[in-house]
Amino acid sequence: MRVLVVGGAGYIGSHTALTLADAGHEPVVYDNLTMGHEWAVQWGEFVQGDLSDGDLLRKVLREHQIEAVIHFAAFAYVGESVQNPRKYFENNVVSTLSLLHAMLDSDVRQIIFSSTCASYGIPEQVPINESHPQNPINPYGDSKLMVERILHWYGEAYDLKWIALRYFNAAGADPQGRIGESHDPETHLIPLVIDAALERRGPVQIFGTDYATQDGTAVRDYIHVLDLADAHVRALEYLAGGGESQPINLGTGRGYSVREVLESVGRMSGRPVPFEEGPRREGDPPELVADPSRAAAVLGWRALYQELDDIVGTAWEWHSKS
Ligand code: UFG
Repeated sequence: MRVLVVGGAGYIGSHTALTLADAGHEPVVYDNLTMGHEWAVQWGEFVQGDLSDGDLLRKVLREHQIEAVIHFAAFAYVGESVQNPRKYFENNVVSTLSLLHAMLDSDVRQIIFSSTCASYGIPEQVPINESHPQNPINPYGDSKLMVERILHWYGEAYDLKWIALRYFNAAGADPQGRIGESHDPETHLIPLVIDAALERRGPVQIFGTDYATQDGTAVRDYIHVLDLADAHVRALEYLAGGGESQPINLGTGRGYSVREVLESVGRMSGRPVPFEEGPRREGDPPELVADPSRAAAVLGWRALYQELDDIVGTAWEWHSKS
């Protein structure tokens, strides 16, 4: 299929372009390069453009005879979204409407959308399945939920087919070292811990040691970026085969604490990780772990990277060389 990868110069988008090309599809990457990197566009043609530019999107959809869209383009810093919700609703919601309307105008009716476990808010129970109530506690999560609702209603009214993939914590890099995670500023745990091990920055801060978890630190479900990418390709093929629109969690189903991440980086790097214990970060749920059974049932998908050390190992290879 000819697939428009919107936000395809970013972390998860670029790994998905790679996986699409490997699976025999034709990615066309559309990105404004505010967060993405031109060096990450190595598979498919590149069009530099903004998510809000409906005219350009209509032109690209038509000229490249696009059959489906995968939409990654979004701001994704939880803390920033609380300080500056306008930026999040403007880009993640309003500009997404430009894309959806360009698609409807061009008769492109299949979309895979990057959603998030942040749309669940503070979980009532873990593991979290797709029926868990969605009560986001920050504008970022709410912006993603709003788009899920728009997709639902556009599906009802305009026959738009959609899958909203609710990611847990994306991590790792292409094991061949061609692309990897590169955020500025970096706020994610694994790259920060690796940088601390490499002495590129001071000790990593552990945000909260008094959670009701096995070792007092917060627990997350870390999912390898190539496993995420694989699920996008499967979701695309599922919709193309007449599959039903729905949200699908993407996680391994297994949680690891912040301390376990530090230990894993210590093992992979062969160096102790300097750390300091600090207070909780505002808005952090104690534990987020996916119930990934729908992804298995509907997409035949299962995370190939099940062990944290394997995920961290690919991240270590990437960061220590870049
Ligand atoms: N953490 C630290 N120290 C740090 C950075 C993070 O202890 O320097 C902790 C966090 O408090 C959290 C865990 O490590 O408990 C993971 O934090 P990340 O920032 O790596 O990831 P989050 O779980 O906060 O965020 C991820 C995605 C978001 C998404 C969110 C849903 O990056 O896009 O999951 O909760 F919204």
